[in-house]
Amino acid sequence: MCGIVGYIGKKQALPILLQGLRDLEYRGYDSAGVAVLDNGAIDRVREVGKVDKLTQKIGEKKIQGTVGIAHTRWATHGGVTEFNAHPHIVDGKLAVVHNGIIENYRELKIKLEKQSVKFESETDTEVLGCLIYQEYKNLERSGMKPGASDILRDAVRAALLQVRGTYGLVVMHKDNPFELVAARLGSPLVIGYGEGENYIASDATPILPFTKRMAFLDDGEIAVIDLGTPKISNLNNELVAKVLSNIDWDQAKAQKGGYADFMLKEIFDQPMVFEDALRGRLNMDEGTAVLGGLNMTHEQMREIKRVCIIAEGTARYAGLVGKYAFERLANLPVEVDYSSEFRYRDPIVNKNTLVFVISQSGETADTLMAAREAKRKGAFVRGIVNVVGSTIARETGAGTYIHAGPELAVASTKAYTNMVAVLILYALEFGRLKHTSLATGQRVLQALLEIPEKMNLVLKQNDAIKKIAEDCKNYKDVLFLGRGVNFPVALEGALKLKEISYIHAEGFAGGELKHGPLALVSSDVPVVAVLSKDQLYEKMKSSIQEVRARGARTLIIATVGDEEAKEVASDIIYVPDTMELLEPLLNTIPLQLFAYHMAVALGRDVDRPRNLAKSVTVE
Ligand code: G6P
Repeated sequence: MCGIVGYIGKKQALPILLQGLRDLEYRGYDSAGVAVLDNGAIDRVREVGKVDKLTQKIGEKKIQGTVGIAHTRWATHGGVTEFNAHPHIVDGKLAVVHNGIIENYRELKIKLEKQSVKFESETDTEVLGCLIYQEYKNLERSGMKPGASDILRDAVRAALLQVRGTYGLVVMHKDNPFELVAARLGSPLVIGYGEGENYIASDATPILPFTKRMAFLDDGEIAVIDLGTPKISNLNNELVAKVLSNIDWDQAKAQKGGYADFMLKEIFDQPMVFEDALRGRLNMDEGTAVLGGLNMTHEQMREIKRVCIIAEGTARYAGLVGKYAFERLANLPVEVDYSSEFRYRDPIVNKNTLVFVISQSGETADTLMAAREAKRKGAFVRGIVNVVGSTIARETGAGTYIHAGPELAVASTKAYTNMVAVLILYALEFGRLKHTSLATGQRVLQALLEIPEKMNLVLKQNDAIKKIAEDCKNYKDVLFLGRGVNFPVALEGALKLKEISYIHAEGFAGGELKHGPLALVSSDVPVVAVLSKDQLYEKMKSSIQEVRARGARTLIIATVGDEEAKEVASDIIYVPDTMELLEPLLNTIPLQLFAYHMAVALGRDVDRPRNLAKSVTVE
């Protein structure tokens, strides 16, 4: 995700900010920038690419000043360009850095344009900056003096009351040269308390070299950070007393938000980033989704006769879940293929085919080539991609970002759940133009909104899953079973395990068991089975009974309240109930954790498994 660092004190700000940006590099970013306030002027430098490039660009330029803010940007709104990089400056007076997504930025932008405000970038952040700047001017008009204490804080508060979305933001204003104002809703910010100086950052990493005394802002809090003790208040303008924590993490641990590995952090990120995948895309009144990037008229959408989903690895398994969603909600036939196969066969696609290419990195060579092939044949090609501005995103020119934030561990986790979310939204949008009823649409949306909370309940069982995984670490083979919409979950569970633990693992459809895989089953081969309380429950249960009869140890992923499941379980993990189509969003998580803990127990390098790469840009 984007990174923020800010400093106010007596030292020169620039070196502290640049070092802070380097400390935040691990989060992944595509551009960086810094702004320092000195003698009533703001000096800003931004650059696309690495912090080193930014440093080179600054070169010998004398950027003096003891107050400043800096940012590493991971694009969400607007491409990867210098104009879109932060800090954004309004009227030469106000500078802002922001993490998160402002959902209603289009409405706010139109409103501001009517007041003759001009924009330089395509970002939601600049809109936020302009809004704060306008509020500052409004306060001046109502009698507050520029530079008055509280004017900047009040302007930020007034602006935030008009905003829908998430933010972690820091602003500075040239008329208030001795303070930074920061605010948080849904996007973390930490204040570092020094002596006659203070720090602010999106996580503890850049602050650790200077002070261990830190306070984490909570949602709805605004901080005024000057040379003294930071003053924190809430959106109702009540002062909040913060408890300071003594953070004695080392740098590496801090980068991972306190988690041992990026993969574990990313698994735990899922409830939060899932909300980002939904943000601004649900239309409850109409019981449908609104995915702006689809770029098709309703007429064109109704003309679609077939859907093809092409992807590799985890992205393809997300696509398989999408197949169930499209068939059920949109009543459209769906084919899911490996990109590498699609491009070399004679795929039958035409102007009535919608092709989704799914890719976390947006750079997977086979997927890119398959997208080109489908485009050449006249299909509607839409990307479902995480990395903004990546090649697939650019070449498809239309589609949807999944907003999972940077995924650094090679094994994909949070990108998978967000890909599934976006596919369900697409299926619903198509379905609502045809046979899916308003009531069903609203049920799906409601169920999606409940997913983050339910994901948290699954994640709370981390310790129990860890124990089971440690117990299973000496097995050489593991089988995964699922049926219906949980069949792709079994495939993904097996993929995760082989990727990071190097244990041989295969996923099968429960109904296929008797046609071969049963021959593999013995007391040496545990079976992980997804047994959700859905239409295939009884059939799945009898498959599990068959493997138990052959002596297999069974780990069952069951629905909360299903006592019967214990009859077929050596170990059991309960997952909250949800709509059948949405089950993979919850059932995959225990399997991610199972793979993770097995790999850790075996001493593997979880984030960088042998022989694999995060982005496979060659055939
Ligand atoms: C590689 C990675 C997988 C990933 C796949 C597709 O094989 O190891 O984890 O799922 O590529 O990557 P993409 O970036 O296209 O989603």
